[in-house]
Amino acid sequence: MPKHFLDTNDFGREELADLLDLILLLKEADRDGCVPELLRNRSLGMIFEEPSTRTRVSFEVAMVKLGGHALYLKPGEIHLGERESVADTARVLARMCDVLMARTLAHETVTELARWSRVPVVNGLTDYNHPTQAVCDLFTMREHLPAGKALEDCTVVFVGDATNVCSSTMHVTTKFGMDFVHAGPADYQAPEAWVKLAERNTADAGTGSVRVTDEVEDAVRSADFVYTDLWWWVDQEDEIPQRRAAFMPRYQVNADLMALAPPHARFMHCLPASRGVEVTDEVADSPQSIIFDQAENRLHAEKGILVWTAYPGIEHHPAPELRAHHAGRIAEHLGRAGWTRR
Ligand code: CP
Repeated sequence: MPKHFLDTNDFGREELADLLDLILLLKEADRDGCVPELLRNRSLGMIFEEPSTRTRVSFEVAMVKLGGHALYLKPGEIHLGERESVADTARVLARMCDVLMARTLAHETVTELARWSRVPVVNGLTDYNHPTQAVCDLFTMREHLPAGKALEDCTVVFVGDATNVCSSTMHVTTKFGMDFVHAGPADYQAPEAWVKLAERNTADAGTGSVRVTDEVEDAVRSADFVYTDLWWWVDQEDEIPQRRAAFMPRYQVNADLMALAPPHARFMHCLPASRGVEVTDEVADSPQSIIFDQAENRLHAEKGILVWTAYPGIEHHPAPELRAHHAGRIAEHLGRAGWTRR
């Protein structure tokens, strides 16, 4: 069974902590220009049903730094679910690639890919969650901890819509025993099913809490990290008037809202941001903002996730005798066929 990466809730806290440590080692190696080629000559197939900047570029650059390469299979370019079943696509790509990453509209598509793929499948965002972003964000929080606090001492307040990033942030923070609050208007709050999973995480961790509220002003007063995301995605553009009316102005992360948070609180956004909508320039470009550290850390997180999932299943050191055996057979064939240079 390959080691898929579909949801941080599929892993224990210790396993994820191990991944964070690997990401740190790879980030430090990258700073010195010394990333080991752990996936040399290996191929990453990247399926996208939706556009992307960070996910696409971070995975492709990560794979090259690890000695491999990536194929960008853009929306509409392959027969995914149209003219060919998801199961057949998974089985074909897994015969040619060493690891797959997919950004799919429906979460069921990425789980179906994983069901049929014999190589690891990494979830690059679905309508339910965004686990690679979540790992990156936790890593970024660890780099920006308030003085004297550990992760489990911190409170993350997610302001705005109950997006896929909200779900992943809720689940990864509670997995690490942190306090998580979703502050949003009543019709856009995190569903009970997400909260139940988060409560299970805090019970396992022995610390932490999860809370959903519309009282955003009260919520940010205890925030170590204030996080927000878009209020609408491409397929929700016909809902813009009612969404804008529900969120604006109370749930916009602006200087007035940030002034209610402790001075050490950091501002986070997965990006892309609609500046002037869910966040103002004043906050996004303030000293409290760590949004570009987050964006850079996608690269380091993807390196870690690729190694963590794909490295163990790969034969890295075929015996010299085996290499010589194959080279000899092929040279002999080429010689017999008269294809060698005279
Ligand atoms: N945060 C994020 O996933 O960005 P992209 O949509 O640009 O990949």
